[in-house]
Amino acid sequence: TREDAEAYFRSYEAAIESIGENRSRNDGAHPGISVKLSALHPRYSFAQEADCVPILTARLKVLARKAANYNICLTVDAEEVDRLETSLKIIQSVIEDITLTGWEGFGLAVQAYGKRAMPLLDNLIETARLHSKRIQVRLVKGAYWDTEIKRAQMKGLEDYPVFTRRGHTDISYLACAQKLLQSRDVIYPMFGTHNAYTVQAVLDMTDGDMAGFEFQRLFGMGDSLYDIVLKEEKVPVRIYAPVGVHQDLLPYLVRRLLENGANSSFVNKVFDEAIEPEILARDPVEAGLERGFAPHPSIPLPNRLFWGRDNSQGYDLDDAPTLQGLLAAMEKAFDNREINAASIVHGVHEKTGLSTDIRNPADRDEAIGTSYSANDALIERAFGLAAKAQPHWNDLTATRRSAILNRIADLYESNAALLLTLCVREAGKTLPDAVAELREAVDFCRYYAALGLEDFNENGQNLRSYTGESNKILLQGRGTFVCISPWNFPLAIFTGQVVAALMAGNAVLAKPAEQTPFVAQAAITLMHRAGVPKDVLHLLIGDGSVGEKLVQHKNVAGVAFTGSTNAAWAINRTLAAKDGAIVPLIAETGGQNAIVADSSALIEQVVDDVVTSAFGSAGQRCSAARVLFVQEGVADKTIKMLQGAMAQLKIGHPQFYSTDIGPLIDEEALAALQRHKSTLGGIGKFVAETPLADELKRHGHYFAPIAYEIPDLGSLEGEVFGPALHIIRYKTEQLPEVIRSINESGYGLTFGYHTRIDAAAEKAVREVNAGNIYINRSIIGAVVGVQPFGGNGLSGTGPKAGGPYYLHRFAAEKTVSINTTAAGGNASLVMLEE
Ligand code: FAD
Ligand code: 2OP
Repeated sequence: TREDAEAYFRSYEAAIESIGENRSRNDGAHPGISVKLSALHPRYSFAQEADCVPILTARLKVLARKAANYNICLTVDAEEVDRLETSLKIIQSVIEDITLTGWEGFGLAVQAYGKRAMPLLDNLIETARLHSKRIQVRLVKGAYWDTEIKRAQMKGLEDYPVFTRRGHTDISYLACAQKLLQSRDVIYPMFGTHNAYTVQAVLDMTDGDMAGFEFQRLFGMGDSLYDIVLKEEKVPVRIYAPVGVHQDLLPYLVRRLLENGANSSFVNKVFDEAIEPEILARDPVEAGLERGFAPHPSIPLPNRLFWGRDNSQGYDLDDAPTLQGLLAAMEKAFDNREINAASIVHGVHEKTGLSTDIRNPADRDEAIGTSYSANDALIERAFGLAAKAQPHWNDLTATRRSAILNRIADLYESNAALLLTLCVREAGKTLPDAVAELREAVDFCRYYAALGLEDFNENGQNLRSYTGESNKILLQGRGTFVCISPWNFPLAIFTGQVVAALMAGNAVLAKPAEQTPFVAQAAITLMHRAGVPKDVLHLLIGDGSVGEKLVQHKNVAGVAFTGSTNAAWAINRTLAAKDGAIVPLIAETGGQNAIVADSSALIEQVVDDVVTSAFGSAGQRCSAARVLFVQEGVADKTIKMLQGAMAQLKIGHPQFYSTDIGPLIDEEALAALQRHKSTLGGIGKFVAETPLADELKRHGHYFAPIAYEIPDLGSLEGEVFGPALHIIRYKTEQLPEVIRSINESGYGLTFGYHTRIDAAAEKAVREVNAGNIYINRSIIGAVVGVQPFGGNGLSGTGPKAGGPYYLHRFAAEKTVSINTTAAGGNASLVMLEE
């Protein structure tokens, strides 16, 4: 929160003063201070540069000038790699600012595990030369390695920003050290390491010139190593010691614990008597050469994480050139878009029926285009064509259909700019949400392609049987599926339903939400281009009444629906009222999703995850958190931090990367949220509301995130689809009651539990009837194949989308028994060897 950042800033100021005042008492030693920029601003990130860079620059300048006055050193710590470039902007300004002073104590840490370490050093050396300034560079290997690997995997990046073998980090360190030692005219190198080999290698590189650099170690680490260094060499060794209360230092301490516990780390190995000194002190270059400098075999590239399929391509939006390139391509794609969205039957765009103006929910003045609703004749024609085409499609073989699905995925990726721009402009999605949406759609295609290839194999699955008979079971398409999808995932859910039905061998009539026909039109066009026959797949545009007609049709072999519980009931009744085959309904509906946070949970993590879960995508996800149950003892503190975090959220135009929260989808949604807010005014206690500019309200359907305390879950009538969070305090002994009330709501979609007590988490997992349970993380953003998604009870019928059983529900099963003795005898039995 802003208050936290200000408090840390004051602490740093006070620390510098205290170190400075006591400086004279330290004979010869020059203590300094290390600063983490993340402590000085609540939103220190590339996306928020416009805000955080000026503030952080100003704050760092104040601290630097103060340190300069006392002539003590100040080093900026290195943090996560996606903050590197932002940090450099700030550091650059400070270097320029201090060039006029005689102070040479300003420095920064550089992480050798980062693949950009060498060019970064070149850049720093050049800057120092340019300003005729000596700067300090602390060379470290890096403390966030595991985080970087996980993030790159989740973001689906092309490659890792860090090395994947420790030895490669060691080599990078040595190369960097050499460069630094050679640049001592403008750089004061500070070597932070606890690795004896690294220390000795650095010493060897000095060629006896021992001036103008130092070693550094962390408090509590490398003591015995540096005892020797101090005894044998004339090099200063500085100790980095964290100062603060245990609670504030927790993340730091965890990093140390991981570092010291890691099998590969030097400090861990040095105490292992089984490891020979020769092995420990082995030249990393030699070891690297032996392995051909190949990356670590157990850390596949982010793209190769999943068996049988590629991961969807991600975009590193925190990389300025990537972001700018993408935004420019999106702009161009938008300018070249179709301005009519019409049903597509047999590949022909049919501008029949009622027309509606589609506008950008963030800006009513921006027209996306005109959408044309399907009429009865069109629906009839689509059903007729589909019925005729389906058997051929079913016969085409799973291999061919699977290849087509993979082609759809590839085409989605190569047409990313168009799909993203439509998700942003038509559905009001923020850029990161749009990217996640596209990736999910791509993942659905590849996942069902991989799964279908196995399960829908035309040879079927052989079953154990008697001799003289062959028995197998086959999966085939059922006929024509109707797929009805919502506006909140206009590409992902739309695509997921359609491609699953197609993979299973069905023909498909797809009806997107009336709010988002343009995304759907673009998707269907790409599917046809990928090779889905035009008589097999049809797009029918329109509102609920079109959906109803589709469902009523006698030819329907199954329905996949995602949307409100009410609409699902209506579809269910319509299907039930028809005479004829009883067909499957795959429904995914709403939720009254809760997160429970007990007093052992890390409050920062709780608040982060609650904000993401409740307000991300403007709360317009069926998985979104609607209720936070927080244990009484930590409730005040949690609520205070939540207020601070909500104050920092940026509501805005989704086209800007800095926007956290975009608009609601339409007028109707906005009115519902406003009604809900006034109801809450009566039953609840106001907690917080994110600031929202009037200007935005004038242009789009914006609703500011709100949080209210309410007495119990019973005070809520049903799901409210938007950024409204309800907080309920509970006492420890009420936990069973809390769980009961969550289950009794009848919904069962997502559930989150924040705790550091494993047994408590396990108990909740057993007891809560939710389809997707998340421990110590956000409860949104299920990933295909990783977190198969779907709920129970009022939340849906299953099977889970993106899960191993989904395709089966779209299929008809066929068992084939062949009497292999019909020709007169059992050849295989008779021919048995003795
Ligand atoms: P070693 O055991 O030789 O090396 C461990 C290093 O290898 C770690 O960086 C680890 O992440 C990396 N590694 C482990 N496995 C792999 C793998 N499979 N592939 C690639 N690399 C791998 N760190 C920061 O990030 N920012 C800072 O600002 C910072 N400041 C520091 C200040 C001081 C004074 C000191 C001493 C350290 C600082 N560190 C900082 C922490 C530092 O990154 C770690 O203590 C250091 O990496 C440990 O390296 P080592 O040479 O002691 O250990
Ligand atoms: C860390 O915070 C020491 O800066 C390093 O882990």
